[in-house]
Amino acid sequence: MGGGVVKKFLSHHNLGFQVIIISMIILVIPILVLLYDSVFASKKEEITFKTEEERLGTIVQALNLEVASEISNNQYQVNQMSIEQRNNYFEKIFSQEAKPLVKLNPGVRLSLFLPEKNEMIVAGFLHNYRKLTPVEQKEREERIYRNTQAGIKSVLASGEPLATIAGDPNDRFIERFVPVKIDGKVVAVIWGDERLHPIFSQAQRFRTMTRYMSMIAIFIGGIGVFTIVNNLTKGVRRIKNGLSQMENDFNSKLPQLPGEMGQISKAINKMADALQEKEKLEEEMRKQERLAALGQVVTGVAHELRNPIGVIKTTVQLMEVELKDANKNEYFDVIKHQVDRQNKVIQELLTYGRPSKPIKEMVDINKLMESVLTFTEAQLRQNNIKLTKNYALTLPRIYADAERIKQVFVNVIINAIESMPDGGKLKIITTFDDYNIIIKFIDNGMGMGKEKLKQIFDPFFTTKETGTGLGLTICNQILSMHNGNIQASCNEDKGMTFIIKLRIKNQQGGMIK
Ligand SMILES: Nc1ncnc2c1ncn2[C@@H]1O[C@H](COP(=O)(O)OP(=O)(O)OP(=O)(O)O)[C@@H](O)[C@H]1O
Ligand SMILES: [Mg+2]
Repeated sequence: MGGGVVKKFLSHHNLGFQVIIISMIILVIPILVLLYDSVFASKKEEITFKTEEERLGTIVQALNLEVASEISNNQYQVNQMSIEQRNNYFEKIFSQEAKPLVKLNPGVRLSLFLPEKNEMIVAGFLHNYRKLTPVEQKEREERIYRNTQAGIKSVLASGEPLATIAGDPNDRFIERFVPVKIDGKVVAVIWGDERLHPIFSQAQRFRTMTRYMSMIAIFIGGIGVFTIVNNLTKGVRRIKNGLSQMENDFNSKLPQLPGEMGQISKAINKMADALQEKEKLEEEMRKQERLAALGQVVTGVAHELRNPIGVIKTTVQLMEVELKDANKNEYFDVIKHQVDRQNKVIQELLTYGRPSKPIKEMVDINKLMESVLTFTEAQLRQNNIKLTKNYALTLPRIYADAERIKQVFVNVIINAIESMPDGGKLKIITTFDDYNIIIKFIDNGMGMGKEKLKQIFDPFFTTKETGTGLGLTICNQILSMHNGNIQASCNEDKGMTFIIKLRIKNQQGGMIK
């Protein structure tokens, strides 16, 4: 249940916040360890240490008291003694009092220093927590001696008791010195030492290490969290910006990003592409539907117009024969010309509105083009147009209605001729790729404005006085019956380029029939 609440809480906040919260929770552990260490652990050790120190202090103090009371009990004799005798007497009392104490407190070493004799008397042994090599043993003794020397000297000079910790981090011991005084003069120093268990220094080393490790963990964790949050928010921001740009312009794409963010942006880009493609297809479908509807209307109207126009034509022909008046002939010509033109329009409308099923056969597009050029070449020459051909050597053959495809080529070539009334150049290229045969017509004629280019395939769009505006519409229709298409574009310098694509194979790689 608790997990559910946390999940709910987190999911209401943004990703960056979630990462920070989780990381904080994780980072809290080393922080707590650090806190515990600095507040409790070291305190605990301090207390243990103090207890140890106090115990040693009590032992040394007890010994001192014993020795002092012994001396004061024999004050008179002591005063009569020579230095030599007195020192021997001290030695005797010390050994006598110290022995039972060290027996009671194993690990405690009690010693006496007689400055006048410069001699040390030692009772008891220190614990050896670790087996020492002879070299180490010797080294340690020297070290203890050196350390003890410093303590003794300081007590002799000050006449005050002293507590110290000596040794190195691996082998430490506590020492407690007390002066033995007669008439205010320090005549001897009694001291005790006790080795600290190595666990003390180990614990301390461990603590120091934990402390540094925790600090490093917190530091690295902090930097890590910052970097992750920064990367995440940066990536998310870039995707967000990219998306809002996409809203305005479908063509704009999300930037390439590393890692998961990259996968997301790639997926979004792919989706946008698919959407764009879908929209294009839908638009195409809508257009086709519109054209089909138009086709029906057009056929009806054309059909109705054809008969009266036929009647008009025959009537005019009769009138021409019967009223043989030379002066009227030019009127007849005008009427005949207009009637012929109307007939052409009607014929084209009918082909467009009621297209018959294509009769497909295996065709070689290069050959087809050649046969079209045989009857258009004269017109090209007449109009002073230089023709260049660039055919693919071997073009895959395709299934197509040869007559219809020829009609397409003728339409495009005638349009080109009409766009170059003062002569020019026409280049025809045939190539192919894995999927299509590609036919390009490049002219350097008058071209057209980019705005008008959008309407070029619309029915009845024409810029010519005698044009029907159906030529390219019909081309488009024929090509879509062949799984092909036609595209028009304005050349950089002058004129236009028409690219026709005819599909060779379907998506499964099969031949298109
Ligand atoms: N090669 C070209 N150069 C410049 N404009 C062209 C070219 N081809 C087509 N057009 C433009 O596209 C319009 C439509 O062409 P389309 O062939 O459909 O009709 P049309 O040529 O006007 O009439 P029709 O083909 O019935 O004679 C043309 O009127 C012309 O403005
Ligand atoms: Mg035309």
